[in-house]
Amino acid sequence: MHIGTPLSPSATRAMLLGAGELGKEVIIALQRLGVEVIAVDRYDGAPGHQLAHRSQTIDMTDGNVLARLIDSEKPEIVVPEIEAIATETLLELEAAGLCRVIPTARAVNLTMNREGIRRLAAETLGLPTSPYAFADSLKELRKGVEGRGGIGYPCVVKPVMSSSGKGQSKIDSEEDLAGAWHYAATGGRVAKGRVIVEGFIDFDYEITLLTVRALNETGQVETHFCEPIGHLQVQGDYVESWQPQAMRPVALNKAREIAAAVTGNLGGQGIFGVELFVKGDTVWFSEVSPRPHDTGMVTLITQRQNEFELHARAILGLAVDTSLRNPGASAVIYGGMEGSGLRYEGVAEALRVPGTDLRLFGKLASFPRRRMGVALAEGKDTDEARRRAKQAAGKVRPVK
Ligand SMILES: Nc1ncnc2c1ncn2[C@@H]1O[C@H](COP(=O)(O)OP(=O)(O)OP(=O)(O)O)[C@@H](O)[C@H]1O
Ligand SMILES: [Mg+2]
Repeated sequence: MHIGTPLSPSATRAMLLGAGELGKEVIIALQRLGVEVIAVDRYDGAPGHQLAHRSQTIDMTDGNVLARLIDSEKPEIVVPEIEAIATETLLELEAAGLCRVIPTARAVNLTMNREGIRRLAAETLGLPTSPYAFADSLKELRKGVEGRGGIGYPCVVKPVMSSSGKGQSKIDSEEDLAGAWHYAATGGRVAKGRVIVEGFIDFDYEITLLTVRALNETGQVETHFCEPIGHLQVQGDYVESWQPQAMRPVALNKAREIAAAVTGNLGGQGIFGVELFVKGDTVWFSEVSPRPHDTGMVTLITQRQNEFELHARAILGLAVDTSLRNPGASAVIYGGMEGSGLRYEGVAEALRVPGTDLRLFGKLASFPRRRMGVALAEGKDTDEARRRAKQAAGKVRPVK
């Protein structure tokens, strides 16, 4: 694919749908390669808006509004960075040859809904997953858990459309069932109230296996794997990640086979975050993001090419290098309060911790559990890197 000059008739134009902290880094990576970038988000002044060539604020779940914007901006490449998008519209525009969706419109459409990707992985591809059932009412949910051949307790109830743990709860007994239903039915992105219930997997650890589909010198797609990223989730939201996660060879091979199968089916070019649970040599597929992954921010300090650069290169048909440079870790910095225009104290102290770096996302408004930044650290091993990242994150204090 050609690369032209931004803001000129030869420009290679990419439109980012979603301009949060992950979109912002993709924008930087694309701009470094000479791409003109239009950043789209649902509110003005989003992190990626602050640096793109042009910014647009629309409701990306409104198919007509999205189609009009794509028609007026005419990007060659549309790069979804969030799930809450009118993906049916992307399917139509891609089918009509009006734009190229990364990695493919079908991948974006299937993965925005837990039902689409779960049925593909478990039923079409036969990959190991937790046992699961879908339900549209409390009655159906009860049947899915307690009925004959049901999931049983403990289990996890989630809206079919949600991310970052929203509307998700683990239930241990019949007593929690109604509460979990109501929490999920109101916590999802759309008010339809469909949920998935999954058997709880008592894993030893969970990983994100960043998997890149990129062109080789003969123009064929090749699959590349980054070193596995271990992470810690609290209430369905990531708080810490590290790379590499040590894995037994059998488990690592299984993880790569699962990732290759899922990403091979979803197709296209770009990076995927394949989420897997591991216990001993057993590996379960959980879900996949057809885009950079939040836990993959650790690659900003660990890899020769971070996950955003890998995405940009793969999209543009360029060679990728997924190798690790050094072990490292990331630790999330939360807003800790409601408010806007926060100031960050302790940045100097944080960066005095050896081997550390920082990303402050520049989000205009804060709430207690909003991710406002991330501390990064390298180390001789992941234990040292995790200690440093947590120490640095703990020194940054958002204040009003
Ligand atoms: N069946 C399960 N068994 C055990 N733990 C689970 C299960 N499902 C989810 N979890 C835990 O909850 C976390 C979040 O779940 P999941 O990834 O499905 O939700 P999410 O809202 O899509 O999160 P995100 O968008 O941040 O990846 C998982 O990373 C895992 O720690
Ligand atoms: Mg997840």
